[in-house]
Amino acid sequence: MTAFATASVTAPLQLFDFHPVLADFRSAVLQGLSQTPKRIPATWLYDQRGAELFDQITALEEYYLTRTEMQILQERAVEIGDRITQGALVEFGSGSSQKIRILFDALRAKGKALPVYVGLDISKQHLQQSCEDLQRDYPELAAIAICADYTQPLRLPDVPVLQNRHKTAFFPGSTLGNLEPEDAIAFLKTVAHLIGPGGDLLIGIDLQKSKSILEPAYDDAQGISAQFALNVLTRMNRELGANFDLAQFRYEAVYNEALGRIEMYIVSQIAQTVEVAGEAIAFAAGERLYTEHSYKYTPAQFNQLAAQAGFRTRSVWTDSQALFMVVDLATCP
Ligand code: AVI
Repeated sequence: MTAFATASVTAPLQLFDFHPVLADFRSAVLQGLSQTPKRIPATWLYDQRGAELFDQITALEEYYLTRTEMQILQERAVEIGDRITQGALVEFGSGSSQKIRILFDALRAKGKALPVYVGLDISKQHLQQSCEDLQRDYPELAAIAICADYTQPLRLPDVPVLQNRHKTAFFPGSTLGNLEPEDAIAFLKTVAHLIGPGGDLLIGIDLQKSKSILEPAYDDAQGISAQFALNVLTRMNRELGANFDLAQFRYEAVYNEALGRIEMYIVSQIAQTVEVAGEAIAFAAGERLYTEHSYKYTPAQFNQLAAQAGFRTRSVWTDSQALFMVVDLATCP
């Protein structure tokens, strides 16, 4: 356990480093490329360039998700904020923590106390930065940073500031949709365990809708989504000495209506053999390399998924076009 303070904040940020084991790009790639169909786990899309491209995606006209979730949070901030006031708020994958600011601003505007903030992320540098930024902008905020892999079972540190407080987990962005349903249930069970009986989970979920809206959201006219996926080939060239010729690959995003998910993949345009980390990898013409799935749920399907992890739905907030929902789930006491 390490505790440190920075000059810019009034309360010191407590950092708990659980030293998550960082997976290895080379073994993940070679394992994924030896499967049928071939796949690269989506986490590897986010190197520095990938993260920049993803930020650009969130601002695209076609990618309605981010702005719609922000709009729901803004419009219902007081009501949603009431679920967290006085307690502790645990943000999963805290990233740049932009969305939580909407709720904090609403609470402040009403003269209400902010919760104790717990940021949880696998990237220590990112985590420290976002927690310190929050403390700079909200000097009254008590903040705790936990560096951990939240897909693994975990407990909150045993510190007085978290004892006897109601816990709310915050998981915006519809990132749950990137997990296969059984993995989503396992993750929700981890969250339920962490927040304990009577805790809440505020989660952003993308809703099912027509192909004509979904496919452009994941394959935009400017080609940013394509660049985002293809960037993993550039990353393999740089970090694993691979020799992918990007001109011989293209990106595709297809909505699988039967499974309710967008499937994103890179397609080999010709039969070719590529060298990756010293191994020869053969691609047939038209062969797919899966990069991501993004599941879309109906409210009823999501309700059922959450129930399998021991949650009941307390409230659902959506936008006027029912594109996206923010859900308040409660663990059964
Ligand atoms: C991070 N996640 C919620 C995005 C999504 O919408 O599934 C990932 C993404 N990949 C391409 N576009 C967006």
